[in-house]
Amino acid sequence: MRSLVLANQKGGVGKTTTAIHLAHGLALSGFEVALFDLDPQGNATVALQGMFASDGEDGQLIQVCEGLRLLPSPGAKAVMEHQLSVDPAKLAELARSLTPAIDWLLVDCPPRLDAWGWAGLQLCEQVLVPVQAEFFSMHGLSQMIAALETAGLHYPGKANLLGVVPTMVDTREPLALEVIEDLRRNLGNKVTETVVLRDTMLVEAASHGKTAFEHCPDSVGALCYTELVKEILDGGA
Ligand SMILES: Nc1ncnc2c1ncn2[C@@H]1O[C@H](COP(=O)(O)OP(=O)(O)OP(=O)(O)O)[C@@H](O)[C@H]1O
Ligand SMILES: [Mg+2]
Repeated sequence: MRSLVLANQKGGVGKTTTAIHLAHGLALSGFEVALFDLDPQGNATVALQGMFASDGEDGQLIQVCEGLRLLPSPGAKAVMEHQLSVDPAKLAELARSLTPAIDWLLVDCPPRLDAWGWAGLQLCEQVLVPVQAEFFSMHGLSQMIAALETAGLHYPGKANLLGVVPTMVDTREPLALEVIEDLRRNLGNKVTETVVLRDTMLVEAASHGKTAFEHCPDSVGALCYTELVKEILDGGA
């Protein structure tokens, strides 16, 4: 089982949007995927709720569609005994119990390295960091990379940086392109070749509780995330 967490302590950078599209995109590619929504805000849970095929499997995971199961947010649904406090050991046990049925574990983290954020890093071998192409992103990213180094020391074999993915890129904005160049200069091939372009259809899809693959498969957002799934499967990220 491969495990990948979407993390960035900065808020609103596209963690949840990337998590649900990677999860659904991998499921559409024929993999069995479990997505853990570890953000008490429950955005991933809400953004998928229009696709729920069943209410609960094993009393814990919701079948979203073929190949995709969701552990709903602790804030959205009572899934654990103490729903608002995190128990990393229990989450790890749940992840282990899903193997070998699951090919991919994806985890969506809150915009803080609080107990839930650390639990996400602790669960996964790899980390993908979505970064909004804007002026302060490099600074926030250095802090994030330092946090990943600390996590790697505490949890051997976990929290390795797979890549940094530029999100909400508006190609008409020269600054966005400069920021991406700057990221590539500093981080080289850790920056994904795929950039996720700004597309309001992604916002619209989420408001319907669906991914863009479900709601608007021909949209720019859906195409960008198809590319990102492909890059990850090809080992480019
Ligand atoms: N490529 C995009 N184009 C346009 N809007 C986007 C794009 N990606 C995300 N958004 C929108 O931007 C907002 C923030 O995105 P998202 O919720 O994925 O970020 P996040 O990092 O998970 O936020 P938080 O830190 O609050 O968890 C959402 O309204 C989302 O629909
Ligand atoms: Mg989020």
